[in-house]
Amino acid sequence: MIRVGSIGVGGMGTHQARTFDQVDGCHLVACADPSPEMRARFEDNFPGTEGFDSAEALVNSGKVDAVVVAVPTGLHCAAALIALNAGIPVLVEKPMARTVDECQRMIETAERKDTVLMVAHCRRFDSYWKSWGACVASGDLGSPILWRNAMAGFGPGSWYMDHDLGGGPLMDGAVHNYDFANFLFGDPESVLSSSIDMDPESSAQDTCSAIVRYKNGNQLLMSWSWAARGNGLHDIIGPKGFVQFGTGDLPDPEDDEPHQYCCFTNREGEQTLIKSKAEPDMYACQAAHFLSCVRGDVTCLSPGTEAIKAIAVADTILQAGPAGEAREVVWT
Ligand SMILES: NC(=O)c1ccc[n+]([C@@H]2O[C@H](COP(=O)([O-])OP(=O)(O)OC[C@H]3O[C@@H](n4cnc5c(N)ncnc54)[C@H](O)[C@@H]3O)[C@@H](O)[C@H]2O)c1
Repeated sequence: MIRVGSIGVGGMGTHQARTFDQVDGCHLVACADPSPEMRARFEDNFPGTEGFDSAEALVNSGKVDAVVVAVPTGLHCAAALIALNAGIPVLVEKPMARTVDECQRMIETAERKDTVLMVAHCRRFDSYWKSWGACVASGDLGSPILWRNAMAGFGPGSWYMDHDLGGGPLMDGAVHNYDFANFLFGDPESVLSSSIDMDPESSAQDTCSAIVRYKNGNQLLMSWSWAARGNGLHDIIGPKGFVQFGTGDLPDPEDDEPHQYCCFTNREGEQTLIKSKAEPDMYACQAAHFLSCVRGDVTCLSPGTEAIKAIAVADTILQAGPAGEAREVVWT
């Protein structure tokens, strides 16, 4: 039975802890958080667990075999290194870290200590995203492909809108898309980015548009704001057809289980619904995969060596945005 500890037990740390509390093969035993209120809430939520006031104290206690890191993004590297240096496997929340340099230090330490460094890119375990990913990979859209995603809404605020701790929407939210695009399209090559400052209160870029080019000729268009409301656009277009998000959860008359749908439209305008099962959810699949990696049963599907490429895309977009520049994406 793998003994799991949670480093950082705010919103996402609690969600991860609930998930690990329910999957087979592990025992949730402890947390680390500097906030006494958060530690008390964790111990209430998960009776029999123990709270520590720092990651060092948790790791040095000898009570955990693996940890989940869910602290503010700018603190991921420091927290993960404490566990990795002790040879303890780490599942770190996305974004992997705030900079490429931090990611490199995490990868180097995991390799030197010969332990697991997995990044919680939950979309790699999401049957919904994987269903349209399979449609893209099948060639039904043709080639090359343009994935377009525009979102505007008021974001989570707090440290998420601090440049160094969170990096704003083009780092924190859009990293799901960068990673999934890397998963589908292969290595990124360059970005063209332009930011607009709508909220003078936040040090992070709150509104930015960027095009990411991939070595295989595909492109990802991202336009996100966490400082204004607006309409959303989410589709993947190719010369032979397109996939559209947004049909959401619908009942299936032939099946009691919940399903999610997206829609494929071919060049002639004929539409097909693509159906995927909503359960088990992506976090449960992700947790089960991490535990398999810790046991050495499988090759990691979301290793640090892959997730670093999404941080390279995100940080290059943030660096190029204010001047509206094009830049090469580099992570080695
Ligand atoms: N995968 C997803 O869908 C998803 C969703 C939301 C958040 N996240 C990610 O999860 C991470 C945490 O986000 P959140 O919303 O839970 O933040 P949060 O602010 O709710 O919680 C962060 C917690 O970390 C604690 N903390 C701060 N410094 C610490 C340290 N040095 N050691 C231990 N604990 C420390 C804080 O006291 C707090 O309890 C972020 O990287 C975020 O991007 C992922």
